[in-house]
Amino acid sequence: MKVAVLGAAGGIGQPLSLLLKNQLPAGSELALYDVAPFTPGVAVDLSHIPTNVNVEGFTGEENLQKVLTGASVVVIPAGVARKPGMDRSDLFNFNANIVKGLAEKIAEYCPEACVAIITNPVNTMVPLAAEVFRKAGCYNPKKLFGVTMLDTLRAETFWGDVTGYARGDIRIPVIGGHSGTTILPIFSQTVGYDAVSAEDIEKLTVRVQNAGTEVVNAKAGAGSATLSMAAAAARFALSLVRAISGESGVVESAYVQGGSQYAPFFAQPVLLGVDGVKDFLPLGKFSEYEEKCLNDMLDTLKKDIQLGVDFVNK
Ligand code: LMR
Repeated sequence: MKVAVLGAAGGIGQPLSLLLKNQLPAGSELALYDVAPFTPGVAVDLSHIPTNVNVEGFTGEENLQKVLTGASVVVIPAGVARKPGMDRSDLFNFNANIVKGLAEKIAEYCPEACVAIITNPVNTMVPLAAEVFRKAGCYNPKKLFGVTMLDTLRAETFWGDVTGYARGDIRIPVIGGHSGTTILPIFSQTVGYDAVSAEDIEKLTVRVQNAGTEVVNAKAGAGSATLSMAAAAARFALSLVRAISGESGVVESAYVQGGSQYAPFFAQPVLLGVDGVKDFLPLGKFSEYEEKCLNDMLDTLKKDIQLGVDFVNK
């Protein structure tokens, strides 16, 4: 199977490509693309790792045809990262044209591929890409994903810190979107919930919502989460590859269209299959606090979505 990474030479792209080179099944092809001229060098570097994954790197828009043709999975970390004081939505003006341009090339060269978008603001970039695909006549909502996996990893990590449960045993659905209050961890469905006070649940919820900013501030102007995001994106991409290859029972959370009564695009658990989303899984029961957070986020989420749709149709 061929996996393409667009934005492969950047802060997320390089560790993501490393994880894929090490963990894709033997016989896979990894095609790296970035505007950075040293991208072929990143591929040469990775090619010295003795796994049975063939890696090639390209720069220059004229090479996107080569990168994308035959790809079954395309992962997009391309774009600009935020600096302290910025929200993810402040990146829209920098990143919208990047994602639009790449989506147009995907529509041209691999319209059947599953596409996973990491570029922020994810809440807006996924609907934007959907609109590009729709206009090109190749939109399949079951094959377009916003990567929200890092919210899940953070919720599980912070929950482990507070409760002492082993992190590997914790499963926490995180629903909504991937920005501020649109990120909603559903702790009430998690092991150990009854032993944690309402005050601590609120604190943990806010910490997950602000975790991206925590990293942005800690990096003090040098960007946002790259390594944990690469780990999250690799987990999602590898799950997609396993499901497309025929493995059953692969469940992950992602920001997708069509599975929710709450908003046209919504992050939720999905069952993955050979053609992308096989089933949207039920969200389960919420606590009163979660219900309120969910209702409060919807205006913001819907505005984020509309911005992406309007950008393509302006
Ligand atoms: C994250 O969640 O860390 C990423 O979306 C990057 C950011 O700007 O917060």
